[in-house]
Amino acid sequence: MLLQEEKEDEALARPKLGQAAQPRGRIGRAFGWIWLRVNGPMNHRAVEALEMAFGETVLEIGCGPGDAIVRLVRGGLARRIVAIDHAPDMVEAAKALNRAAIREGKVDIRECSVSEMPFREGSFDAVLAVNSVQFWPHLRLDLKSVLRILKPGGRFLIAMRMTMEPRARRRCEMLLRALPNAGFVEVTMEEATTRAMRVALIFGKRPIWAGGPYDAFVA
Ligand SMILES: C[S@@+](CC[C@H](N)C(=O)[O-])C[C@H]1O[C@@H](n2cnc3c(N)ncnc32)[C@H](O)[C@@H]1O
Repeated sequence: MLLQEEKEDEALARPKLGQAAQPRGRIGRAFGWIWLRVNGPMNHRAVEALEMAFGETVLEIGCGPGDAIVRLVRGGLARRIVAIDHAPDMVEAAKALNRAAIREGKVDIRECSVSEMPFREGSFDAVLAVNSVQFWPHLRLDLKSVLRILKPGGRFLIAMRMTMEPRARRRCEMLLRALPNAGFVEVTMEEATTRAMRVALIFGKRPIWAGGPYDAFVA
């Protein structure tokens, strides 16, 4: 890769800070309230693109106030829906929104950073991150953690808003390089418009041979 491109990727991988990265207190809760009202169509499109199959397990990283969880529950296909967010106020909001599904044992929401996920290797059929990768503190390592907790052949979907930030397109291009570097295969990107919002959907898969005889062969 060209040195200039490498430098740009470094800059784009550096996490953004502020209330959107770690919402807290009254202002943080106000952010959550806004996300719940504004990001609905985007969460809808992301959950649709995840193409859940009956009985699958799914993890959402950076669930915020929990709108995508509601949509996953409504879809009725997932056997287990786990969601994490490192902001206690968002975990509380997401739990309040999904109280019934939590009570029924369908949903498990935890306060946890993407960098400290406690899940065993191969725990999930699908992982979803809507408007959250730009805040991950150690993007390259965090992507590897996502790969590890996916089942072989498991799907990863990143959804990002394209309209709010001028650097969004370059961040998508950086992610299209970072995912294969982390070990994902079949990495693709699609753009969609949901209501007036332009959304990028970036897909990747854990190779089906990961941890299997192929790995031993190439090691
Ligand atoms: C812009 S909000 C998006 C919320 C939700 N996905 C949506 O689209 O409505 C980003 C969320 O990612 C969470 N987040 C940021 N960095 C994180 C990290 N390192 N680990 C877990 N969650 C994180 C924030 O706390 C925040 O709730």
